[in-house]
Amino acid sequence: MAEKEPFYITTPIYYPSANLHIGHAYCTTIADSIARFRRLAGYDVFFLTGSDEHGQKIQQKAEEMGTTPLGYVDPIVANFQKLWEKLGISNDDFIRTSEKRHEAVVQEIFRRIQAKGDIYKGEYKGLYCVPCESYWTERQIEDGKCPDCGRAVQEVAEESYFFKLDNYADRLLAHIEAHPEFIEPASRRNEMINFIKQGLEDLSISRTSFDWGVPVPGDEKHVIYVWFDALTNYLTPIGFLDDPEKFAKFWPADIHLVGKEIVRFHTIIWPCILMALDLPLPKQVYGHGWLIVDGDKMSKSKGNVVDPMLLIDEFGADAIRYFLLREINLGQDGNFSRDALITRINADLANDLGNLLHRTLSMIKKYHGGELREVVGEDAIDASLREMAAATVRDYEAQMKNMEISTAVKTTWAFVSRANKYIDEKTPWTLAKDEAKAQDLICTMANLAESLRIISVLVSPFMPVTAKRIREQLGLTDIDGVQLDEARSWRVIPAGHRVGTPEQLFPRIEVEK
Ligand code: ME8
Ligand code: MG
Repeated sequence: MAEKEPFYITTPIYYPSANLHIGHAYCTTIADSIARFRRLAGYDVFFLTGSDEHGQKIQQKAEEMGTTPLGYVDPIVANFQKLWEKLGISNDDFIRTSEKRHEAVVQEIFRRIQAKGDIYKGEYKGLYCVPCESYWTERQIEDGKCPDCGRAVQEVAEESYFFKLDNYADRLLAHIEAHPEFIEPASRRNEMINFIKQGLEDLSISRTSFDWGVPVPGDEKHVIYVWFDALTNYLTPIGFLDDPEKFAKFWPADIHLVGKEIVRFHTIIWPCILMALDLPLPKQVYGHGWLIVDGDKMSKSKGNVVDPMLLIDEFGADAIRYFLLREINLGQDGNFSRDALITRINADLANDLGNLLHRTLSMIKKYHGGELREVVGEDAIDASLREMAAATVRDYEAQMKNMEISTAVKTTWAFVSRANKYIDEKTPWTLAKDEAKAQDLICTMANLAESLRIISVLVSPFMPVTAKRIREQLGLTDIDGVQLDEARSWRVIPAGHRVGTPEQLFPRIEVEK
């Protein structure tokens, strides 16, 4: 068998300064749907997420709570993992930057770049945003506020190691210009090009005024700057230090999916670190938009967060996943609202998908005792359904590969609607009354079952539990191990196949007026 093509996708490693909100769940759900899609399409996928545990912000939080940094983050990180399990996230590893395996990587990278002459010791004097863990110059800040998050910055003056970013600025610009797919969407690319053209200052990569971090090798009063530490997480679990074969397979990453506010770290600092290590750059950094509540970015510090755990308890993981994937265009900001969530659940899940399955299984039961029969021929309506199934799979595949996730969901649902309309066009209840139409009724039932089989495959990256349930009700093999190619064929379910019992997929949510 041919070797599977590798595919490596990552999310940001989130700060365990507080529990995660639906904005973090959004990014991880998108990444999960892509990872699941690629597995479905036959790739050997490695999907990584984790927690970014070091730095001044976490140390301050722990001090406020009268505990140690690790004592502070441990239960929060446990909650991250609980959330991902509840949400059906299929990550292959979970990296904590406080782990020994990661510390070894950070220190080795520091040593290599230092040996190369790109790290030197000096004095840092400038401004620092603790919530963003980000350095700024006077020129960059606006009214004493961080240009990224709008919060007050503090002055810092301390001994520091510096990384000669500017050594790599020209190569970086050339790379960005030669590889338009490196930074997506294009608006982010232009911002970054402008940023680099203003000139890159050497980056302070160590701090001495607190100690929660990875020590600088050979100079332990310094801890390595949290972003230098965090970015290298992407190398740790794929064998950078301990498994050259695995590393050669998965590096460079195919996609670093990140929020738009941290594209700068991923497309300037990170590539410079990699160039200093003589490693290839990731193929793509995709900067997704923000979830907005009442016009404002949802964020821990603004206190306008929605707890994904509660939402999952109320509506189920697949409904939340569906909403996040369907409602927001990946590159743009999008509104999160409970009303919109309920509308989607009722219209798309309970009504369109749920009814299609329920009607189909009930009719197969009623007309043919729950059994599919031998199909002979097809008419023009049957042919148009079959052709739309094939076109749907083609479009879906291209859209998923092109990061047009919400479009791929819409493409799938257009087929769900087509299948519902097919029932209305064929009117099985009239076919059932006419002996001469017996063949047509058999064909209609088989085509509906085929449509639902294909739909179960297409929805599996979006709603893994629902895909399983649809297949159970259809009496088909489990979705695990099914490949996208299965969705490209028609008339797969054989005559004599018995379908299962119809059960409601999604209950309608009643809203009080
Ligand atoms: O930045 N809408 O961690 P973080 C959509 N540790 N996505 C959102 C969001 C919102 N309102 N709020 C957060 C860090 N996110 C660093 C990353 S990576 C080497 C280090 C998502 O906890 C989005 O993906 O602040 C954003 O980039 C990420 O959470 C930031 O999480
Ligand atoms: Mg943040």
